[in-house]
Amino acid sequence: MKNINGWLWQEYEEVGSTNDTIKDIISSKSGSKYLVTAIKQTAGRGRRGHSWISLKGNLFMSMALEISSKDIGQFVFVVSLSLFDALHQLFPKINISLKWPNDILLNNCKISGILLEKGEGDYLIAGIGVNIAASPQIAEASFPPKSLSDNGFNTDRITLLKSYLNAFDENFSIWKQQGFEKIRQRWLDNAENLQKRILVRMHNEDKIGIFSGIDDDGALLLKCGNFVEKIYAGDIFYIDNKEREN
Ligand code: BTN
Repeated sequence: MKNINGWLWQEYEEVGSTNDTIKDIISSKSGSKYLVTAIKQTAGRGRRGHSWISLKGNLFMSMALEISSKDIGQFVFVVSLSLFDALHQLFPKINISLKWPNDILLNNCKISGILLEKGEGDYLIAGIGVNIAASPQIAEASFPPKSLSDNGFNTDRITLLKSYLNAFDENFSIWKQQGFEKIRQRWLDNAENLQKRILVRMHNEDKIGIFSGIDDDGALLLKCGNFVEKIYAGDIFYIDNKEREN
């Protein structure tokens, strides 16, 4: 294994899912941080039981580190903000925004996905996919996938990986030393449709309300009349974008 920024990094030609491969190599006692990347991924997994179509030239990586289970809700924002920062580092003019819980949108299209899973012991696995060179065609999607290169932003997986690790190290130490506030604030400053009406699609119901923030557990705060509901899992849709554009 190579060492990159203190991570034990293994690159594979081909895996099913980097999240599964990393689960096989972590050892709960070691106290190490692990990183797995793959050139080809044949059984990529997405959130909420979806598959992640993994096209050639895109980034497929998983990181594993020990995180106390009470911090998991905040950790996902450290990961997504770091990916956002990495893309800004590489492309200062890129017009990206954050979508709860952990997507990055480029011109209303999804360019990346993050899948958090539990590993052995206290290990938490963050799997990250970025459409760098190609994107699958999913016509009916509300946020259709697009790639960086579709939008004229050209890079390669290793350049993006290194930029991501630098951003992650910085945000992770801010979070550990100063707590969640700064991460939350920067995430919200770059979030799409804050203080706007959104629709949240949950397992068995839809709810409409004002997206008014995220709490200390990472839950989305949805203002419905006089109540603020905490949403822990769901997909959000923007319903007032026409008004916003006028
Ligand atoms: C999503 O549904 O938005 C999350 C997609 C996460 C995809 C990445 S690709 C690397 C890692 N391995 C997987 O099987 N999934 C994640």
